[in-house]
Amino acid sequence: MNKRLMILGSAILILASCNCKQTVSDKYEIEPHSHAKPNQAVITHLDLDINVDFEKEIIKGKATYKIENNDSKQIILDSKYLDIEKVEADGVATDFTLSTPDEVLGSALVINIMKNTKTISVYYNTTDKTEALQWLKPEQTADKTSPFLFTQGQAILTRTWIPIQDSPQIRVTYNATVKVPNNLMAVMSAENPKEKSADGVYNFSMKQKISPYLIAIAIGDIEYKAVSERTGVYAEKSMIEKAHYEFADMEKMVLAAEGLYGKYDWDQFDVIVLPPSFPFGGMENPRLTFATPTVIAGDRSLTSLIAHELAHSWSGNLVTNSTWDDFWMNEGFTVYFETRIMESLYGKDRANMLALIGRQDLAEQVESFKNNPEDTKLKLSLEGRNPDDGMNSIAYDKGYLFLRTLEETVGREKFDVFLKSYFKKHAFSTITTEKFIKYLNKNLLEPNKIDFNTEEWVYKPGVPSNASVIKSDKFKDVSSYIAEFSKTSVVNTEIVKDWTTQEWVYFVRNFPKNFTKEQMSTLDKSYDLTNSGNSYIAMVWYEQSINFDYRGNDVDAKIKEFLTRVGRRWYVSTLFKAYKTNDKVEEALEIYKESRSNYHSVTANTIDDILGYSK
Ligand code: BES
Ligand code: ZN
Repeated sequence: MNKRLMILGSAILILASCNCKQTVSDKYEIEPHSHAKPNQAVITHLDLDINVDFEKEIIKGKATYKIENNDSKQIILDSKYLDIEKVEADGVATDFTLSTPDEVLGSALVINIMKNTKTISVYYNTTDKTEALQWLKPEQTADKTSPFLFTQGQAILTRTWIPIQDSPQIRVTYNATVKVPNNLMAVMSAENPKEKSADGVYNFSMKQKISPYLIAIAIGDIEYKAVSERTGVYAEKSMIEKAHYEFADMEKMVLAAEGLYGKYDWDQFDVIVLPPSFPFGGMENPRLTFATPTVIAGDRSLTSLIAHELAHSWSGNLVTNSTWDDFWMNEGFTVYFETRIMESLYGKDRANMLALIGRQDLAEQVESFKNNPEDTKLKLSLEGRNPDDGMNSIAYDKGYLFLRTLEETVGREKFDVFLKSYFKKHAFSTITTEKFIKYLNKNLLEPNKIDFNTEEWVYKPGVPSNASVIKSDKFKDVSSYIAEFSKTSVVNTEIVKDWTTQEWVYFVRNFPKNFTKEQMSTLDKSYDLTNSGNSYIAMVWYEQSINFDYRGNDVDAKIKEFLTRVGRRWYVSTLFKAYKTNDKVEEALEIYKESRSNYHSVTANTIDDILGYSK
């Protein structure tokens, strides 16, 4: 066959193999972490009707979806550890199958539909294997009087409490009716109540389209206190005043963010302070950030976390990473934006201290990945792996450094104009790394005739040599003190008087290798770091206590108490890793055996891996 004929032949083959009435769209990327095939049939709106049973620790519900059908005979949802009772298409029972579960992805829930099917309903129960939910006993809460429940959807856990097309490319609006015990209040990533209802029934509506990983609920004996008209805090009674004080600058943060990259599109910005087992510092659930109580330091020194979650209202929630391989598009942009908000409210000194701490985290992460350099690329390939594997300092701090370097190269003014239009152009849609690079070239680099090694930053391991150099005079002073103290062991009480949390953290993290436990003891006698009320300072001090085998001031008991109460994965994993690298796994397991039951599944899974623990 000559060449032309061959081309013609294969064109006919392609035409014949495609049922061309079945206009399969290519709007959605094929992605490895969802069973859904949204190009064939896709959900567009969710009506959730659930009953939350704290006694049985089960959510029983019905999820009804409006769908758009591209002439398909099936729609596929993700489902993991759910007990599916029945499924309906437009109110009539229909057949469905559940595929053999994959350990990471769960099962494909394949539902038969007709060409003109408009809605599907799934009746289901959650099970005790659910990974998103954490059911807490009263003792695990701040007030210790009522039980509590919260969900964590990111990255692929929403499918363990709602059957759904669980890919970040999907966007739905939702309404929910939620029945909870009478004395409790329910709040969601939606328009929220400010008071308890008399009958325990709550109705929610989320009118902006969001990705499934952002659907969230928290239920407990909580109350609300406004900070401004559109910002405020939810917390248990014993925490509400502290939270309100700590987050007093929320409105200023929203104003600063709007000043940078355009209007806040979600109407309300509230924060709920959860019990201490919440596995993250914060989670950017739209309209209602979920936060760990460990950010409440009493002096507002850890509130960059609020700036971070707020920034996700643009980078993440408005413009969403298309796949978890593009996770840096969510987190790197958010750290950049967070740092800009912090600079705008509190000045360059504070912003640069935060950035330099992140720079150190990045250096440590790159070093720890020296045998897996692939994992230090911004664009990841997580196919066949748990997307959780990509959730480390690379996405955050290398992503940040890339954007900061870009900003310094093109100039802040141009960069801000660019970012503002980027958010506007892609609002309520998703973005791949590739789409971003194209947009960057066309709208920033080419018009300004700037040569930039974007490809190296994104697709090559490690940190490129043109990386911006972050400097902090404040940290220089801290370093001088460390150098002096490690030589002389003479404590300086004067220099630390005006130190912020960031300076303390930098100080403790940078003890030289030849530091001794006697020197730690000397410091502890002066500064009582073992009993620091600041969770961040305490955490890095405990890490060093493990590293340098310092056992004074009852620090072992303190560490154990901390690890048993707090479930924030970053803190807990830092400490368990320290035990591991210092050959103290036995000691760690002693603690973990007791603390594990207080952890949410994402924290427990991480620590299981670190310690090689199997239940
Ligand atoms: N979206 C993340 C939390 C997350 C990431 C949950 C990946 C599940 C999978 C959130 O915005 C975040 O980055 N939280 C950080 C705090 C932040 C200040 C760096 C955290 O929890 O430590
Ligand atoms: Zn984040």
